[in-house]
Formats: sequence, C-alpha cells, structure tokens
Amino acid sequence: MNIKTISELSDIAGKYILLRDDFNVQITDGRVVNIFRIEQSLPTIRALKEMGARIAIVAHLGRPDGKRNPEYSLAPVAFALSELLGEPVPLISDCIGEPVADARQGMQNGDVVLLENVRFHPGEEQNDPEFAAALAAGFDIFVNDAFAAAHRAHASVAGVTKFLPAYAGELLADEIRYLTQAVRNPKRPLVGLISGAKIKSKIGIIKAFGKMCDHVICAGGIGTGMLAAMGAKNLAMDADNLEKYDNNVVLEIMREFGDKIILPLDKGVGPKWAKDAPRTDKMMADILPTDVPMDEGPMSVAEYERVISGAKTLVWNGTVGMAEWPPVWSAGTFALARYIAQRTRSGELESIVGGGDTIASLEATGTEKDVTYASTGGGAFLEFIEGKVLPGIAALSE
Ligand code: 3PG
Repeated sequence: MNIKTISELSDIAGKYILLRDDFNVQITDGRVVNIFRIEQSLPTIRALKEMGARIAIVAHLGRPDGKRNPEYSLAPVAFALSELLGEPVPLISDCIGEPVADARQGMQNGDVVLLENVRFHPGEEQNDPEFAAALAAGFDIFVNDAFAAAHRAHASVAGVTKFLPAYAGELLADEIRYLTQAVRNPKRPLVGLISGAKIKSKIGIIKAFGKMCDHVICAGGIGTGMLAAMGAKNLAMDADNLEKYDNNVVLEIMREFGDKIILPLDKGVGPKWAKDAPRTDKMMADILPTDVPMDEGPMSVAEYERVISGAKTLVWNGTVGMAEWPPVWSAGTFALARYIAQRTRSGELESIVGGGDTIASLEATGTEKDVTYASTGGGAFLEFIEGKVLPGIAALSE
C-alpha cells in the first residue's frame, strides 16, 4: 500500500493542516479518565508544530447521532491536551464554517486548536461529500492520525481525502507497521488471546486467529459462551450472549480450529453482577446457572500463562473479567497483564495489545510501556488483524 506520511512533508511553515485524531476517550465528571490515545497523538502534533504548521484537530467523541449535545463536547479533551502539550489548545465551537475560518485568522505558526465534535453533524457518519468539502475548506493539507477510527468510512476519516492532499501521521504509520508485522510475519509460536463479554462481535477475530495463530485462548464471556454453545447446560446464564445461529458458528469454529483453542477451566463467580459481590472461584463444571462469572479463576490464568510461556508472539484483545472493578474482579486480567509484561521485558515475547479496556488494564498495572506495542485501536485493531481493508487507510492510498 502506497501511503504518504508526514515525514515526506516539507516547507509547510504557515500552512493550515487539518489533523484527524481519535480522542474518543472515557470522560467522567468532566475529566478525561484515560489519556493513552491523547498521549499517543502527541508525536505527530509536535512534529507538525516544529515544522511551523498551523494545526486544527478534528475528532469525535461518543455517538451523539448527528446532533449538537453538550454531553459529548470535546472540552475536557481540549483541557487534557493543553496540559499534555504544555500550552493552551482552544476549543473551537464548530468544526466547519465561520468559527473555523475565524480561528484560522488568529493562528500563528505552530499553534494548535481543537475543533468541536465532528459527530455533531449528520454528514460525518453519512460520509456526505458536501460536509467533507466543508471540513476541508480553507485547509492546505489533511493528516490522518486516527487509527482507532480508520474502520469508519466517515467524512473526516475518508471523505475529506478527496479534497486535500492526504498524509498519514506518525501514530497511524506506526500502527500499520507493527500490526502488519504481527499479522504477516510473526515470530512463532504465535498465540492469540481474545476475550470480552459477547461472542457475536468477536466471531470474525476468533476465525482469523484460528487461521493465523498456533494457539487461540478464548477467555472471559467468549470462553464461557463457547462452552455453553457446546452444551454446558450449567452455563445457561450466558445464553443471552448467544443465539441459536451463534451456537452453530461456535461448533463450526471448534470443528475447524478446536485443536488450537484453549477455553477457561475455572471462573471467579458472584451471586449478582456487582462490583462489591463476594467472589468464589469455581471449576467450570461446578458453576450453577445462578452464578455470575465476572473473572477468570486461578486455574484458567495459570493455563493461559502456560500457553503464553511457549509463545514468541502474543496478540491480545479483551480483558478476561471485569477489570474495571478492582481488586476483586480485576485479578485475572491484572495477573495476565503482569505476566505478559514480564515475559516481554525479559525478551522472550513480542506482545501486541489492543482495545480500550485492555490498554486501561495495562495502565492500571503500570505495564503499558512494557509490552512491545500497545495499539490505540479497538474495533479498528480487530478489523486490521482480521485482514479487512480499513476505509481510513484505503483513502490515504487512493
Ligand atoms: C473507537 O473508540 O473504537 C473509535 O473511536 C470508533 O468509535 P465508534 O465505534 O463510535 O465509531
């Protein structure tokens, strides 16, 4: 794929750059909880600043359905970005029209502004060419650094490249480089660890892992659901995870890749779905239909570690339990994060990790710098690994 990157840009002092970042981050009580994606966007912003460009960042937050809604304002992101960059990054009240033109008027070389949530306009998700043209109006160059949104054929991701010369930022280029290497040319044995609450959204990646990996660990709700689909009646409470159709899909997956697939041995369960629920660890066969599994048990974790100990490369997506409910329900995920970090540090493992919750659990255990590559992508990470063409990347090579 022939993609131009910002390292090919020269003489851009004073030029107006429209930079697409993915700042779709968790915000609680008006503050950004998880700064990983914002931090990862800094190298490109700094590189463009150093070249003297005038940078307007376009980004989305949540799913406001094409309507202006203060709940989804990027104001907390502007604040977090200002702190990280060490200079004020003003939030412009809209991402098209007069407010943007006015903002451009007041910019000096190296200045950065953030445009308000692009999903306040219905044209964004519709990839409306008129809206894409309005976004591009008045800018000289488009830079896409939003890997996490690259699977969306939206105006600020794909459509806008029809109107401006388009380049990949450093983050997008890094993501493509590391993930391509992990998919195309991994050091073997290659282990895939896939987890999450619902099987339905992960069928594609389980099959892709089945084809490309030497071992596939199917953990969390996915593992429980697969066992239920294979006939474990005691795990019936996970049936809402599945539909009849999915049961057949699971059986097909097991027929094709069963010899590679590792499923949970035990679970931490509680009497109800709650952070403060008391925990009991039970072997899968002993779990009652009234039990609620919220973490992998110690036997499962030990088994996954055994499999990972034989791997040279690991691709991991999805926490194996309710990692956001520490310390009781995060135990399995945090133990695995620490184990993977330790094997990576000692040079025995290359670890590629993706997905918002998974990265958050690396941050919670202070291991995010210890893995070989932490991807900013969630859905985009999965689709890239599955080998799908991501519209945001394809648009850069057209
Ligand atoms: C993400 O967080 O995965 C991306 O920002 C895409 O968000 P979306 O699923 O709302 O399109």
